[in-house]
Amino acid sequence: MSLKPLRIVLLGAPGAGKGTQTSRLLKAIPQLSSISTGDLLRNEIAKKSEIGSVASKYIADGKLLPDLFMAQLVTNELRQRNWLNRDASFLLDGFPRTANQAEKLDSELESNQANVNLVVELDVPPSVILDRISNRWVHSSGRVYNLQYNPPKVPFKDDVTGEPLFQRPDDNPETFKVRLDSYFKELAPLKQFYIKKGVYDKVSGDTSDIIFPKLLELIKKRFS
Ligand code: AP5
Ligand code: MG
Repeated sequence: MSLKPLRIVLLGAPGAGKGTQTSRLLKAIPQLSSISTGDLLRNEIAKKSEIGSVASKYIADGKLLPDLFMAQLVTNELRQRNWLNRDASFLLDGFPRTANQAEKLDSELESNQANVNLVVELDVPPSVILDRISNRWVHSSGRVYNLQYNPPKVPFKDDVTGEPLFQRPDDNPETFKVRLDSYFKELAPLKQFYIKKGVYDKVSGDTSDIIFPKLLELIKKRFS
């Protein structure tokens, strides 16, 4: 499937399935690549870098990192990957997540004629999400499993590398609540920003199997 350049932002509560939808989209749309800021930060923590040491304090508490810090991190990443141009296609999972971050991203992309052309909110009821998180196991690459919904072939081992899976330290119920509250606090102004730009859309559903076909259809319709 060949599509016009697509620059997508996925919005969604923690556990809504941003990572899950992203990996499905990457398989379905070969021209697409992605950045997950959560994975980026967790990599920095694993490397014990300076960025990682800043990030670990915020993440452990379920708090958002400062907007300027995140905007610089993502801009550097976009530049390094050579995605700051009108022909680039990419998907951002987990950035921007405040209106302030969205403004910073927008001015960087605007000056490179590479504006975001679709923002999709993954709308999943919070009650459904809370159930999922206790069953989530992840690999250091960012690959996500769920013990019930998409279990690894060998229990607690990554399908691709065979390495052990682990649970994220910020997936305990107290920290998760902080993350969820913060998401809903930031959502309205963030959404408003992209509604004004005319690129906002929403896909609702209780499961990723319901959401994925709707999301793919929306993308095909816009970018064919
Ligand atoms: P980040 O890693 O982005 O976490 P998040 O936004 O809280 O989102 P999650 O990764 O928890 O959820 P997801 O939507 O990807 O869901 P998933 O696909 O895994 O960020 C972590 C932290 O980094 C933040 O708290 C913050 O501190 C910092 N940070 C990152 N970006 C930042 C920014 N821009 N500004 C400031 N700080 C930032 O799915 C969840 C589970 O559900 C999985 O187990 C999955 O297998 C399962 N699942 C999926 N579909 C189904 C289904 N149909 N049925 C059952 N289970 C399912
Ligand atoms: Mg994720």
